[in-house]
Amino acid sequence: MSDTAKSVAGLMDAAREAAANAYAPYSKFRVGAALLFDDGSIITGCNVENVSYGLTSCAERNALFRAVSERGANRKIAAVAVTNLNGKPSPPCGACRQVLSEFAAPGAVVHFPGEKGIETRLLKELLPFQFHLDAK
Ligand code: THU
Repeated sequence: MSDTAKSVAGLMDAAREAAANAYAPYSKFRVGAALLFDDGSIITGCNVENVSYGLTSCAERNALFRAVSERGANRKIAAVAVTNLNGKPSPPCGACRQVLSEFAAPGAVVHFPGEKGIETRLLKELLPFQFHLDAK
């Protein structure tokens, strides 16, 4: 296995481990995300649902908010792995794409289960025309 394949597998393993903590009693869809930052650190998150369904928070955003809450906003995301324990495709939702983009390095990639196995895409491809303000 190449070094790149090993690091993708490692990031996916971290995402799968995080998915085991998912709180998803309503959808039963357990998601995990692992963010690799430009300093080599990895921060994970899982989805946390609520009986008031709209208050549910996705794995990707939970990982990002955890990272910023714990360590500030100085690091950039180099890669993201998303997975689920349901054996289904799960690219990040649109809201998560926007939130991840705010902290993404220019070439940031996203690995996720697609229809035919793991897909890898630039975050920029997944979210063309990211919303931003000039004053950023
Ligand atoms: N979910 C995520 O955690 N990430 C996504 O990008 C899409 C959806 C969660 C939210 C909810 O708990 C469950 O998956 C079903 O929608």
